[in-house]
Amino acid sequence: MTAKLFEPITFQNMTLKNRIVMSPMCMYSCNAQDGKVTTWHTTHYTTRAVGQVGLIFVEATAVTPQGRISMEDLGIWNDDHVEGLASLVALVHEQNSKIGIQLAHAGRKAIVEGPIYSSSPIPFKDDMEVPKEMTVKQIKETVEDFRQAARRSREAGFDVIEIHGAHGYLINQFLSPLINKRTDEYGGTKEKRFNILREIITAVKSEWNGPIFVRISANDYNAAGYSVDDYIDYACWMKELGIDLIDCSSGGVVPAKINPYPGYQVQYAEKLRTEALIATGAVGMITSPMHAEEILQNERADLIFLARELLRDPYWPRRAAHELNVEITPPKQYERGW
Ligand SMILES: Cc1cc2nc3c(=O)[nH]c(=O)nc-3n(C[C@H](O)[C@H](O)[C@H](O)COP(=O)(O)O)c2cc1C
Repeated sequence: MTAKLFEPITFQNMTLKNRIVMSPMCMYSCNAQDGKVTTWHTTHYTTRAVGQVGLIFVEATAVTPQGRISMEDLGIWNDDHVEGLASLVALVHEQNSKIGIQLAHAGRKAIVEGPIYSSSPIPFKDDMEVPKEMTVKQIKETVEDFRQAARRSREAGFDVIEIHGAHGYLINQFLSPLINKRTDEYGGTKEKRFNILREIITAVKSEWNGPIFVRISANDYNAAGYSVDDYIDYACWMKELGIDLIDCSSGGVVPAKINPYPGYQVQYAEKLRTEALIATGAVGMITSPMHAEEILQNERADLIFLARELLRDPYWPRRAAHELNVEITPPKQYERGW
């Protein structure tokens, strides 16, 4: 058997040495609340590069201070952020891994000082602050924030950008009919609910020549919300706009009971890959190399995103190679122990 998990794959100008992706995970480690990279970030991400992860995604990184999930989030709203991010990129590149950044705005789920914003003035939970409905001017400013963030991502040397359209954060708040009750050009129909994402993608592309992924929540887990079938149109429109891969997650739009099991979101990656003919990433409780291999061999997804398993084992690719009978090259300093 040749293991597909260790076959290279190319997206535009980026070739990954394997299909193993570190899923974005907030570290809440900007203790100075300034959004800047700390030694924790450099240690944490570089360790996974030493562990031979092909593509490492930096956590949700806020394009504006009000878009932070917490005050300790990483940020990319200021040119001062570029230096720290560039040093992180250089460390990961030194280990021959690729590195991406997830550009994010939390919308009504932001836990920050000052006002919070959403598509419509509906709080996530009854006991939470009521967000302000974004004016069209504020929407345009947010699109511009993403554009500037894309420019800074380029200046920092990242290989790929992922736009965070999932987990009930700002973009998801516009995409889902559960929250978007607008009657202007940003709501009312599916096409209009997509407009903010369309504008963000176009803005990002004006500053960015490399691959772009979008993370979505393919299921709202609510009868009045969206399920994966509703996301087929969105996936087709993203493909038309030149998006390279859809990273298929779910939930987070409204409080809901989810019953997760190994690979519970793979069906979304498979469905959108088949129906929209676009590359997809599978994520969610994938922990075993054989399971990852099954997903790839059966063409259910193109990349495997791992989150918590890579917290437990930063050297997971080494274990996977061993289980799948593949030889991978360790950093030369580790040759005697590999
Ligand atoms: C500590 C932690 C932080 C996370 N932060 C993010 C994030 O910044 N952006 C994102 O899209 N998902 C985030 N997630 C979700 C993961 O990327 C992933 O989708 C989820 O954990 C399911 O994958 P797993 O079962 O392999 O952990 C986070 C998950 C964890 C455990």
